[in-house]
Amino acid sequence: MAVNGDRKVQTVLVLVAMEAEAMPLINILDLKEDIPQRIPPPAPAVSYSGSKHGIEVHVVRNGKCQLHGVDNVGTVPAAVTAYLAVHEFKPDLVISVGTAGGFKSKGAAIGDVFLATAFANHDRRIPIPGFDKYGVWRVDALAAPNLKAALNLKEGVVSSGNSLSYSQEDWDQMTAIGAAVKEMEAAGISWVAHLHNVPFIALKSITDIVDGDRPAQEEFLENLHSAAKALQDVISPVLEFVAAKSIKDL
Ligand code: ADE
Repeated sequence: MAVNGDRKVQTVLVLVAMEAEAMPLINILDLKEDIPQRIPPPAPAVSYSGSKHGIEVHVVRNGKCQLHGVDNVGTVPAAVTAYLAVHEFKPDLVISVGTAGGFKSKGAAIGDVFLATAFANHDRRIPIPGFDKYGVWRVDALAAPNLKAALNLKEGVVSSGNSLSYSQEDWDQMTAIGAAVKEMEAAGISWVAHLHNVPFIALKSITDIVDGDRPAQEEFLENLHSAAKALQDVISPVLEFVAAKSIKDL
């Protein structure tokens, strides 16, 4: 089913994995934590709501792992949060916002913000006919050429997996996918968006260079806050651009 291009953007759901990525957005948008919780326990997600540029905005982060105390990252928490949040907030547009690795061979540099063109998995290998393509998944993002131009964003394929590092097999799959961006959530959310036929885009700011020579964790920790700042700078202009527009005009 194709998305309805005439649907007007009145409610936007912004999904973020980590607290350090989410809080700068929540602060700049002046959103308030939803109390009582709109995504109830045992789901660990935390939601923040308000209005901006005349539309309803909800930022939802995945919350902390009860066992390990760190943010819930990866495709499983992302999909669970997305499913619950889509049901609760009934958004016209879902945006996955977060940090990511970038491929310099695709033009990425640290601090860039990328708009996704498509979503795929690089760590789901099921060499059985039918399941092979299911594993990789690959769906297009909502085309948003006007948003890309207005905000001067780079664009490319976002590839998701459940590791910060990568194996040779992950590498081969990312190459086959033509990945420009490597992160840990968007493909899971894209499945949920596809189930609900909700328009879905992603904005990813680059903390580390996947095809560079430094370990991802070093560069990631070094650049997390500046990349989160880049997302903070872009979120309000993005919401202003999409506000009250038809999906087909993005
Ligand atoms: N988030 C930030 N950098 C990443 C990388 N290289 N891989 C997966 N997720 C990331």
